[in-house]
Amino acid sequence: MSVFDLSVTDALLSTTRSVRKRLDLERAVPEGIIRECLELALQAPTGSNRQGWRWIVVTDADKRHALAELYRKGTGSYLDDGYEEAKAAGAAQDVRVYDSARYLYDRLEEVPVHVIPCIQMRAELVGKPEILWPSMMGSILPSVWSFQLALRARGLGSTFTTLHLNCSDEAAALLGIPDNVKQAGLLPVAYTLGTDFKPAKRRPLDDILHWNGW
Ligand SMILES: Cc1cc2nc3c(=O)[nH]c(=O)nc-3n(C[C@H](O)[C@H](O)[C@H](O)COP(=O)(O)O)c2cc1C
Repeated sequence: MSVFDLSVTDALLSTTRSVRKRLDLERAVPEGIIRECLELALQAPTGSNRQGWRWIVVTDADKRHALAELYRKGTGSYLDDGYEEAKAAGAAQDVRVYDSARYLYDRLEEVPVHVIPCIQMRAELVGKPEILWPSMMGSILPSVWSFQLALRARGLGSTFTTLHLNCSDEAAALLGIPDNVKQAGLLPVAYTLGTDFKPAKRRPLDDILHWNGW
């Protein structure tokens, strides 16, 4: 017997996509839904239960515009180059990803909510990169994914993005983020246009699975 209804949980886990072209840019997102999804996200694990996470929710239009400009500056030619390379290689799935990413790049400021998950630096781990980065990102990214799943369950969508982090200092100045707090990404959040998303094609499990050693 399953603890949860697997048809529901497996559908949620397998169809929560990076949504860009199907974000509803016209529909307002109530603050309460963001708070509800963040409450759920806070059930995720953190190293030593430090809960050093901080969440910046940006709805102010001028700040979203400024973040979108930083996102575009941080992207440089990355998406154009990737698109051309994928096209030349005949990699259809990658072409779709770059095309979708360029769509978001062009209109990030129009997405009604930007969420920037942050994590406090663990000063005692500085100088120990093998444990610093897994501890830092491992203490924020599980909650980010929970947030995205909670959004999906309520008819909203998002994409985990990192390209603005090439200008993270400027974003920190814009939002007043202190030096000891690091941004982990930027999630554009909106209702989705329709709710029927599909599982993605991935590499076969047996290509990447190792039992009892490499
Ligand atoms: C570490 C990481 C960084 C990412 N950065 C970006 C980004 O800056 N912009 C973007 O549009 N998508 C970004 N993505 C989303 C990926 O393109 C997406 O997850 C991937 O194409 C698979 O698509 P799916 O999430 O719909 O399955 C990022 C994803 C991850 C995990």
